[in-house]
Amino acid sequence: MPDETPSGIDTTVSHSARIWDYWLGGKDNYQVDREVGDRIGELLPDIVKQAREDRKFLGRAVRYLAGEAGVRQFLDIGTGLPTADNTHEVAQRLTPGSRVVYVDNDPLVLAHARALLTSSPEGVTDYIHADLRDPGAILAGAAQTLDFGQPVAVTMLGVLWHVLDNDEAHAIIGRLTRALPPGSYLTLNHPTLEVTGEKMAKAIEYWNQYGTPPGRHRTPAEIARFFDGLDLVEPGPVSITRWRPEPAPSGEPEEIDQFGAVGRKP
Ligand SMILES: C[S@@+](CC[C@H](N)C(=O)[O-])C[C@H]1O[C@@H](n2cnc3c(N)ncnc32)[C@H](O)[C@@H]1O
Repeated sequence: MPDETPSGIDTTVSHSARIWDYWLGGKDNYQVDREVGDRIGELLPDIVKQAREDRKFLGRAVRYLAGEAGVRQFLDIGTGLPTADNTHEVAQRLTPGSRVVYVDNDPLVLAHARALLTSSPEGVTDYIHADLRDPGAILAGAAQTLDFGQPVAVTMLGVLWHVLDNDEAHAIIGRLTRALPPGSYLTLNHPTLEVTGEKMAKAIEYWNQYGTPPGRHRTPAEIARFFDGLDLVEPGPVSITRWRPEPAPSGEPEEIDQFGAVGRKP
């Protein structure tokens, strides 16, 4: 549990960032998050694996973007509580001059944002407390740190499922990607029902009763449509375990109910 509760934190309702932190083995969560997290674990036994695979996907995608793709600027929306291998740490390990802007709207993430502002001396990190539903404010805030004349990689991991309306989700992505120059990238992942079906559906139903903000699943085809107008980086939308996995003697990794992709603005 956090040492003391910062003001503005509701410890009676489970929050997305805190429950995610619990599944990742962090300490920035409350009793209510652990209780809801454990109940979801009963409904969906691989949820902890999903959270950990999400972070591994983040690592592989950011290494691809900072390495092969040569991107030097990152806009990480729905950042979550600081944990191991945050976006700037992964990017700056490869290219110390990387500039990274984090965005979240959870008050506890804001309270812990200092831990994200640990840039390499050559690079920069910044944090914006803002809502994904207000992409104009995010772009204006990010422009203080990022040069929108140069490619930017927008990452939205585990956050778009909180935007329930399809038109709104498309409008947000459209607004963000229109502001990016060619050679920029979008990376996102999202819960599906492809692998665990009813178990994931029940877990989301439970989350929507006891957690906040509410969320939903989408199909892989719906997730693919978020990349319309972008060139999908191989292998396209897949279970994130199968997005450019590290070679393993055990062969192809098992699929999980988190699908994701990386797309490039042509
Ligand atoms: C499941 S966590 C994912 C954290 C991190 N991106 C990761 O993949 O490990 C979802 C995050 O999105 C944030 N979030 C939810 N709705 C948001 C919104 N409307 N605007 C900004 N952030 C939001 C939550 O506060 C939380 O930190």
